[in-house]
Amino acid sequence: MGDLLFEDAETARNYQDYRPNYGGLGLEEKVTAFMGQTRNQSQNADTIALDVGCGSGQLTKVLAPLFTKMIGIDRSKAQIDVAKEVTKERNIEYRVNLAEDLSFLQDGSVDLVSTAAAIYFFEPEPFLAEVDRVLKPGGCFLVLLLGADSFTLKALTSNEEVKKKCHDLQKDFVAASLRIMREGTKKVVSSGSYPTPEYPDTYHFQVTSKRQYDNINEFVGFLKSTGTLREYSQKFPEEGDQVEIFTKRLLSILAAISSAPERTPVVFSWLFNCYMYRKPI
Ligand SMILES: C[S@@+](CC[C@H](N)C(=O)[O-])C[C@H]1O[C@@H](n2cnc3c(N)ncnc32)[C@H](O)[C@@H]1O
Repeated sequence: MGDLLFEDAETARNYQDYRPNYGGLGLEEKVTAFMGQTRNQSQNADTIALDVGCGSGQLTKVLAPLFTKMIGIDRSKAQIDVAKEVTKERNIEYRVNLAEDLSFLQDGSVDLVSTAAAIYFFEPEPFLAEVDRVLKPGGCFLVLLLGADSFTLKALTSNEEVKKKCHDLQKDFVAASLRIMREGTKKVVSSGSYPTPEYPDTYHFQVTSKRQYDNINEFVGFLKSTGTLREYSQKFPEEGDQVEIFTKRLLSILAAISSAPERTPVVFSWLFNCYMYRKPI
């Protein structure tokens, strides 16, 4: 489950430096609006949120201002080490912990459990049972889910041929990632579905996180942050280093529109399907 993909220090560092993030997408407002009822009830009480599979704190830090205390957990020590290093917010606490065992939290103690781009790696049954156990009555569960068609790679050009080649590159990138994922994970990413809590009050919305990479080195940092490509290269060494192959392909695509392809910006965007569920009171 999620084994080596995000465990090492280099991936965690690239993750922190080059992944798109969730700030400025209106996520906080949407979460606050859906949670409104719950939050009003506990206006004067301390509130607590838990971000599961937090990586180096991408979603954790965005949601932290909404709560008295925010806890980010991840199975990877390398990710948690980077999260601790870069976090300034005093109400955030990070710990190495599995999603499927939240025994460090009491029953009915949490206002929000969130998880971004990570749920596919968790064993559904024990994870959802733990979410249900730790949530307060009226507490909410927020899931940000990426699908196989969620990614878009664009060069800043009107050249149709270049646009098409970027599209093909992005499709091959997703295909390589899917090939390396565990069967269960692959199924969730390609179908977009994951078992859900049986809570009747739900809310679905979408957000798109965009990031411009101003030169090829930044984009390589992003490619390296996708543990799947690195693992692909280890599992199928005869097919060559995937990060190198994708980088070379991108450089040759950009050469059609620029005499300095290595200094040509590209934009990568991710569409997230966001689901919220309220535990009945
Ligand atoms: C793709 S990253 C997402 C990180 C961050 N939430 C984000 O949105 O960028 C998935 C994370 O889930 C973590 N993970 C995978 N399986 C896990 C498990 N069973 N328990 C806790 N964390 C897990 C990985 O270590 C990794 O940091």
